[in-house]
Amino acid sequence: MNLEQLKEKIHQYTGNYYDGARLTLLKTKVNSFIKKHNVTIDRIFEDRELLDLFIDSILVNETSFFRHLDQMKEFCEIYLRDIIKKPAYRLMSAGCSTGKEVYSLGMMILENKPDEKRVRVTGVDLSNSVLQVAKEGIYDGSRIDQIPPKYRKYVTLKNGKLYINDEVKRITEFKQGNIVESDYFYFKNYSAIFCRNVIIYFTKDILEKALKNFHSALSKEGILVLAPTEKIDKEFHHLFQPEKKGKFTFYRRVN
Ligand SMILES: C[S@@+](CC[C@H](N)C(=O)[O-])C[C@H]1O[C@@H](n2cnc3c(N)ncnc32)[C@H](O)[C@@H]1O
Repeated sequence: MNLEQLKEKIHQYTGNYYDGARLTLLKTKVNSFIKKHNVTIDRIFEDRELLDLFIDSILVNETSFFRHLDQMKEFCEIYLRDIIKKPAYRLMSAGCSTGKEVYSLGMMILENKPDEKRVRVTGVDLSNSVLQVAKEGIYDGSRIDQIPPKYRKYVTLKNGKLYINDEVKRITEFKQGNIVESDYFYFKNYSAIFCRNVIIYFTKDILEKALKNFHSALSKEGILVLAPTEKIDKEFHHLFQPEKKGKFTFYRRVN
């Protein structure tokens, strides 16, 4: 397999399309992976464990607590306050990275409904290594700065580390899944899915696969939340209709 074929294989497998500077960076990452593990490119796709390690090494997993805070606040005002009235409900962070988005949502729920136990916030990611960090819920202590003061009671600072408190961990879970593979994205009955800063480098055909997966994972009239700069074009409005009640656009599942 040459680099062009590998690029296409990664595109089909993860959704991410590489060109320009990103392609140059990909080449560097591939070369250092091959050297480090002493394997050929073909071998990577024949071995599940190796493929997991490879995917870990190429995907960008930057994240933070309460990222796009104004958008989260608006989601809370417009949608979350109604969602938490349901007898039981689920929220998802698709492409959750190390779990900070999941825990931020968990804290927002508890702030609006202390002692809530009927909710699950599910973090889904393709990369195993980020999921391990997410499950532990232990971060560098300096990350406390990302958490607005009123939510800091949900974490504990000890010996330079930030620990997510048990009450938040109790309502969260983490699963491996691929948002562009229907066989590998088996989730159902979610009231809202956050998928922010994940689809930026998806091509249209791959984005359609992800949107169909989100459509089937959401319950009737469920809400899809993309990053503030991301949007769904008209051609997919039969799946998701834009809804703008405040500053931000959210997407409602078309039934
Ligand atoms: C830049 S991070 C964004 C994290 C978080 N959503 C946020 O906004 O802070 C993107 C994450 O998406 C994950 N990802 C990329 N392609 C994916 C796919 N096809 N299925 C599941 N997760 C994927 C990456 O592993 C990475 O952890």
